Amino acid sequence: MKQRAYTVRLYEFDQLDELSEEQVLLVNSAIKAARDAYAPYSEYHVGAALHLANGEIVIGSNQENAAYPSGLCAERVAIFYAGARHPDVPILCIAIVAIREGVIQEGPVAPCGACRQVMYEKESQANAPMEVILYGSKKIQVINQVTDLLPLPFKLENLS
Ligand code: THU
Repeated sequence: MKQRAYTVRLYEFDQLDELSEEQVLLVNSAIKAARDAYAPYSEYHVGAALHLANGEIVIGSNQENAAYPSGLCAERVAIFYAGARHPDVPILCIAIVAIREGVIQEGPVAPCGACRQVMYEKESQANAPMEVILYGSKKIQVINQVTDLLPLPFKLENLS
């Protein structure tokens, strides 16, 4: 028997001005996106913003539906849109934020498992790390790459 351990390395910040100008721009884009979320059922508004390698910022917000499972998380809305518009352009960074009753959540909100899987595949196809910024008004966490958040992903090669 072998035992293996995985390490998740997080960088924590107290406020936005500790981040780089580019990171701040991305967080602000995610906040704006969250304000436009369509979440009448959960009333939990999530925004995601992607910084693409071509310099573009692509945003997404959660989109819900009366048939609940038909909705989609903010992260996947943004990533699938980026995939449709710029299929081969790597995503360098994603910022994620949640708003409830008009107030940005104090603690960082981590992406759900399904979104991590989608983020993982984009990262591995691009062969470049996708930085993840989890923004909360009182705590910000930065993770260098998606594989840190999903150590045992389902891989494309599993299908061959
Ligand atoms: N949600 C996201 O948009 N991203 C996540 O990573 C977790 C959850 C959305 C889905 C649903 O519209 C609402 O938040 C409550 O779960």
